[in-house]
Amino acid sequence: MARILITSAIPYINGIKHLGNLVGSQLPADLYARYMRQRGNEVMFICATDEHGTPAELAAAKAGKPVDEFCAEMHAVQKEIADGFRLSFDHFGRSSSPQNRKLTQHFAGRLADAGLIEEVSERQVYSNADGRFLPDRYIEGTCPNCGYDSARGDQCENCTKQLDPTDLINPRSAISGSTDLEVRETKHLYLRQSKLKDTLDAWISSKTDWPILTTSIAKKWLHDGDGLRDRGITRDLHWGVPVKKGEEDWPGMEGKVFYVWFDAPIEYIAGTAEWADANGLPAEAWQRWWRTDKGAEDVRYVQFMGKDNVPFHTLSFPATIIGSGEPWKLVDYIKSFNYLNYDGGQFSTSKGRGVFMDQALSILPADYWRWWLLSHAPESSDSEFTWENFQMSVNKDLADVLGNFVSRITKFCRSKFGEEVPQGGTYGPREEQLIADLATRIRAYEGFMEALEVRKSANELRAIWALGNEYLQEAAPWTAFKTDVDAAAAMTRLSLNLIRVYGVLSAPFIPDAASAMLAGMHTEDRTWPDDVATALTALPAGHAFTVPEVLFNKITDEEREDWQQRFSGVRT
Ligand code: 2FM
Ligand code: ZN
Repeated sequence: MARILITSAIPYINGIKHLGNLVGSQLPADLYARYMRQRGNEVMFICATDEHGTPAELAAAKAGKPVDEFCAEMHAVQKEIADGFRLSFDHFGRSSSPQNRKLTQHFAGRLADAGLIEEVSERQVYSNADGRFLPDRYIEGTCPNCGYDSARGDQCENCTKQLDPTDLINPRSAISGSTDLEVRETKHLYLRQSKLKDTLDAWISSKTDWPILTTSIAKKWLHDGDGLRDRGITRDLHWGVPVKKGEEDWPGMEGKVFYVWFDAPIEYIAGTAEWADANGLPAEAWQRWWRTDKGAEDVRYVQFMGKDNVPFHTLSFPATIIGSGEPWKLVDYIKSFNYLNYDGGQFSTSKGRGVFMDQALSILPADYWRWWLLSHAPESSDSEFTWENFQMSVNKDLADVLGNFVSRITKFCRSKFGEEVPQGGTYGPREEQLIADLATRIRAYEGFMEALEVRKSANELRAIWALGNEYLQEAAPWTAFKTDVDAAAAMTRLSLNLIRVYGVLSAPFIPDAASAMLAGMHTEDRTWPDDVATALTALPAGHAFTVPEVLFNKITDEEREDWQQRFSGVRT
């Protein structure tokens, strides 16, 4: 049994996420967590809401609420939606937690002691129209790297370059659009991550098994000149972790907070501490996941995120961890994703374009979305959601292949043998062949799941479902029944057992349908089919079952057109 720590990039608090966000981090992380638990490993799966920074402040102001109240409410909303998608976090924390405040201040203190923090008098953009400093992403302008005209002050979403607001060409306030901006003097803390360049370079170079998407982005910012430039980790804002050096005040830093990107990844650790506290466990319970001096040396730590988050996770956060000089667990594997596009354009939170998580659940249950999204995960390149493709995948894979297999054999059995696994007959060459084919496919499925190849795993699972259908088609127990009842009984017994196996294998992708399959087979036995022949005997002759409700309804053309229409506009 291995110990696996899994974190998903933590979603910003200021709105409900769209399906592109979901497939880029939380959903594949959940797939992996479920699979690893099912295989008997000890898993700690952490996510949280990313609550600090200007976006949260502005969203709260727009909602007419104090920011802490707004965050508490939005956290509850996001939590409920995450539950709706069956995201199986061990804890869904909050970056505004006291645990994160303490840890963030702790890391800052350690970095200062290590000589990795510099106080810098900085010239920062102040908006006269807005009456405030305009931090990072609230200044927009043209990217000096690629020329994209809506680059934000912290990062260009077009070329992923990390930016400083003053880098932008033709800057304007993203709050008011005002160009009446001036530069004022203010003091900030800088993390001297350039001093860690060689260490980070060696560390990333040692990760030869990482996805190319991850290492190429990391290496690009490591070597493209200023990727590892020292960066400000404090901001002139009210909402955030107050700047302190451990537990001590930081002279000159009164009234300032840490930059949201400094405290956000620390929340992975703090979220685990929140989990321990919420369960009445001592500090050792979370430290054994995070401190290599307290048991975490044998933990495998895997992070999930969209490609825009890669620089922060390969450079900035490791700089914090390594720079602290303390034995914190560093990530072992970073699974990153490209973007999911929506019907000929981009999903966009700010523009309200696409399907958002709450909307998705309002029209179909989680499994439909989980299956489509995971089987089309944007791994090697961007991928695109279209309603036609969604309808086709659901109808074909879920309804025609899996759903049809389950309904056909259970109904056949009920009408000929009653609602119990039938007795008699033996397996012949066709059954032997099916078992061999299943074994080959299941081993491949395991390999892809281990390797975090999401689409390939889905393809294998689909092929495993198809084997059952093909078998049923060829064996045709309904025909055999007329001449050889025993043969038909053996085929039916095998197929009913296959439903249990499908329930077990499919659970990471479609947990509700998997539970329905197992419930229909009157079994709680989730034993993994290490040996396929044995697995297909788990339900013995005489074992009762119930024909399950339809597992998946087909999406009709009318529904598709209705949804296409309904979600073509802009969400307000
Ligand atoms: O891009 C985002 O949605 C960020 N809120 C991700 C933060 S991940 C981490 F650092 F915690
Ligand atoms: Zn750019």
